[in-house]
Amino acid sequence: MHISTNSPARSAVVFGASGQIGAALLQRLLAAGWQVHAVSRQARQDTAALQWLQGDLDNPPPLPARPDVVFSCGPLDAFARWYQRHALVGVRVIAFSSTSVLVKHTSPDPAERDLAVRLASAEHAVFAHARDQQADATILRPTLVWGAGMDRSLSRIAALARHWGWFVLPRSAQGARQPVHVDDLAAAALAVLDCRAAHGQNYALAGGQVLSYWQMVQRVLLALPRRPRLLPVPDWLFRALVVLARRSGLLHGFGSAVQARMAQDLVFDIEPARRDFGYAPRGFSPTPAELGLTQ
Ligand SMILES: NC(=O)c1ccc[n+]([C@@H]2O[C@H](COP(=O)([O-])OP(=O)(O)OC[C@H]3O[C@@H](n4cnc5c(N)ncnc54)[C@H](OP(=O)(O)O)[C@@H]3O)[C@@H](O)[C@H]2O)c1
Repeated sequence: MHISTNSPARSAVVFGASGQIGAALLQRLLAAGWQVHAVSRQARQDTAALQWLQGDLDNPPPLPARPDVVFSCGPLDAFARWYQRHALVGVRVIAFSSTSVLVKHTSPDPAERDLAVRLASAEHAVFAHARDQQADATILRPTLVWGAGMDRSLSRIAALARHWGWFVLPRSAQGARQPVHVDDLAAAALAVLDCRAAHGQNYALAGGQVLSYWQMVQRVLLALPRRPRLLPVPDWLFRALVVLARRSGLLHGFGSAVQARMAQDLVFDIEPARRDFGYAPRGFSPTPAELGLTQ
């Protein structure tokens, strides 16, 4: 008699699986042999191990009764509302938040302060409900995300610089940054899964290199064909150019709080993640494809 030693594939529900972090996670889960139910507001194509369920977090589709793990790679506040409405006793939860929770609560922009408050209260709600469900939750807080060519900051800079053949930054844009690659975040989400030390914890997930804002943008331009020039301008001139770009529809939502932050250091300690689950993110050397550009 043949006795199979294969254990059944582990199963995951992934919210936000079509986003930049979710897509990288999906790839890793499928490559590792998981059975995945992914939720999207749009109809998408299933494969043997991947079933897309159409719906959103406030009107969710029926989901498998007891997956091994639920990943949240979409809006955390909507996920927290969904999670609080569901009994998922003992089901592992891994949810992406953002370092914005640490940075934006003192922002001069009320919308940014509101985001920080919503993220903090959603993180709290996830941990509280997990405790009620005798479940283990881990919250991952990425910094500025890159790598899928879908981000609204570095990929947007790349697109504008390619279009113009140059890019401008204020001289004060020297604040430290640690951009983090989507695949390093996906790897982290899998690494925390079976890490006991990560239960009930949150982790800042930054990239493997600290650069000034200026150096970060220079690396973006270095990746582009015909290497657009980076021009330093006085802060007042940069502010005036942003107003013009906004009025002509080239730029959206690049408010004064965002501009002021270019001079601020946003550096986060990744040592707890390194110690607990071997987090080892790459440095920042993007290719055109990782910035959303086809050659
Ligand atoms: N982007 C960054 O630089 C950054 C930085 C730090 C932290 N984060 C956090 O990391 C997580 C992932 O970010 P991301 O940029 O990869 O993705 P995202 O743009 O925040 O969203 C990912 C996906 O979530 C789905 N979604 C949006 N609203 C939904 C809803 N109401 N119900 C169900 N699904 C919904 C969308 O998929 P469908 O269109 O298929 O429904 C979307 O593609 C988020 O929590 C984000 O706040 C991002």
